[in-house]
Amino acid sequence: MVYVAWHMLNKNPKYILPEGIELPDRTWPECVLDRAPVWCSVDLRDGNQALPDPLTPDQKLEYFEMLCAMGFKHIEIGFPSASQDEFDFFRRLIEEGRIPEDVFVMGLTQMRPHLIERTLEAFKGCKQGIVHAYIAPSDLHMKQVFGMEPDQLIETAVASTEQIRALANAMPESDIRYEFSPEEFTDTAVSFSVELCDAVYAAWGKATPEKPIIFNLPATVERRPPNQYADMIELFGRQIQHRDSISISLHVHNDQGMAVAATELALMAGADRVEGTLFGHGERTGNVDLSTCINNLHSRGVETGIDFSQLPEVAETVERLTGMPIYYRQPYAGSYAFTAFSGSHQDAINKGMKRLGEAPEVFGMGWKVPYLHIDPADLGRKFERLIRINSQSGKGGVAWVLQQDYGIEVPKAMQPELGLAVQQFSESVGREISSEEVHAVFQEQFIEPKGPFELLAYWPRPDDADPTFIHGEVHLRVKGEERTLKADGNGPISAFVAAIRQAIDVDFMVDNYHEQAVGKGADAQALAFVPLKLNADAVMYGVGIDSNIDQAAVRAIIAGLNRVKAGAI
Ligand code: KIV
Ligand code: ZN
Repeated sequence: MVYVAWHMLNKNPKYILPEGIELPDRTWPECVLDRAPVWCSVDLRDGNQALPDPLTPDQKLEYFEMLCAMGFKHIEIGFPSASQDEFDFFRRLIEEGRIPEDVFVMGLTQMRPHLIERTLEAFKGCKQGIVHAYIAPSDLHMKQVFGMEPDQLIETAVASTEQIRALANAMPESDIRYEFSPEEFTDTAVSFSVELCDAVYAAWGKATPEKPIIFNLPATVERRPPNQYADMIELFGRQIQHRDSISISLHVHNDQGMAVAATELALMAGADRVEGTLFGHGERTGNVDLSTCINNLHSRGVETGIDFSQLPEVAETVERLTGMPIYYRQPYAGSYAFTAFSGSHQDAINKGMKRLGEAPEVFGMGWKVPYLHIDPADLGRKFERLIRINSQSGKGGVAWVLQQDYGIEVPKAMQPELGLAVQQFSESVGREISSEEVHAVFQEQFIEPKGPFELLAYWPRPDDADPTFIHGEVHLRVKGEERTLKADGNGPISAFVAAIRQAIDVDFMVDNYHEQAVGKGADAQALAFVPLKLNADAVMYGVGIDSNIDQAAVRAIIAGLNRVKAGAI
């Protein structure tokens, strides 16, 4: 192998690629992840022990109840022999009857007799529990931490397992299961892990396909690339005896930032169960992020068994309880996870959303939208937060915000003008701007722009003989001076334009204009978007709003004229 040659050339390299696994007939690369594993949250143990301010018992209780409500069935709630608080928390859940019928609570212990004794005491009266014991069989630990030989380590694991079994047998009213973790599995020869686990299996002696023993095979420190972890899991699954009565569990830390990938590949390699924390809290760089693992499967159509439909509330609770913010760009939960800043992305999302109904026929799936691999609504996130406006946002995105949040359909021809106005505003404040600010720019610059003209009233009177012919009377304030202007026309708008031409010095024509209703019933208003054609190339829009369609249009003309005077173009 290439790395061997490299290693031999470098007599004392500081780092080497861990030796790969000899598995030429590996099958995992061909496997498809089409069903969910058993998910086990270790937020209240591995996650909690790595918080600068560990959770108080009341905070742990709130967190526990949230995990249950989300659908977790295996929850590690602590390390009962580690402190009185940890022990009391177990007792509280059990004595106050707070553990749902179908939930297994799990407690961690080292393989030391007095700690095991105390741990099992904490489980008394628990309907369903998992005792989780661990010891590290890696050379590194045996040589440098424990000073133990392999045989001694196996003896310790067997003796501890027998002790746990005896104490569990003394609680026949409880369904106590057993999880054993050969800590630092990824730094241990698979053959030795198998030998150790076979011995532990025999010592437990109670595993069945219905009540399997859990062998949790941790990447305690992520020392290897994900493909090597998957090889190790496949090899372990092939070599371990009694595979049917064993649940192979994964527990990956994120030291190389690949915990999610390692977990996915190891699931393909045959694992049955995954331990992790909701947003990746845990020692150092944390445990695998369950929200990412679970929602990845959801995004591929797998029923996960975990409810993330209120992800913002879950994220807020975890942030509040842990005191640690979730990173903006965290998949799914990050505040930018469904945000498009770039104009071309915003435009494509807009188009894709409008044509979403065609997706089943065109793509054979219900959700296919540019730049959004999953429907944010599945996670309780809202469409109106999808697009944020900054100086790089495109016209399409700005129009989309007004349409989504305010029901305003900006005509396509006006979108460049609006986009420019919003962009200038964003540049002037030097930051991302909100949907309300977009609306304010629209209101202030297109409906109520400051300028010399103020419309006081307009009376369009149909002619007595021909009601389509209009006698118009306009009361207009021009630079503070009130004027009454009269003119006739073939309709209310042409009469209005003819009248005001007498008082203004702008040469313009009214192009085809666009109207829309906003609001419903008696409160409905007409919104008129009127383009003023100034010359062959230049057009400027004004927008008017009124309960009467004609009045809305003439207000739009005045708004447009004020924009011209303000030098908007
Ligand atoms: O990371 C680890 O190996 C652990 C064990 C105790 C399972 O947390
Ligand atoms: Zn861990």
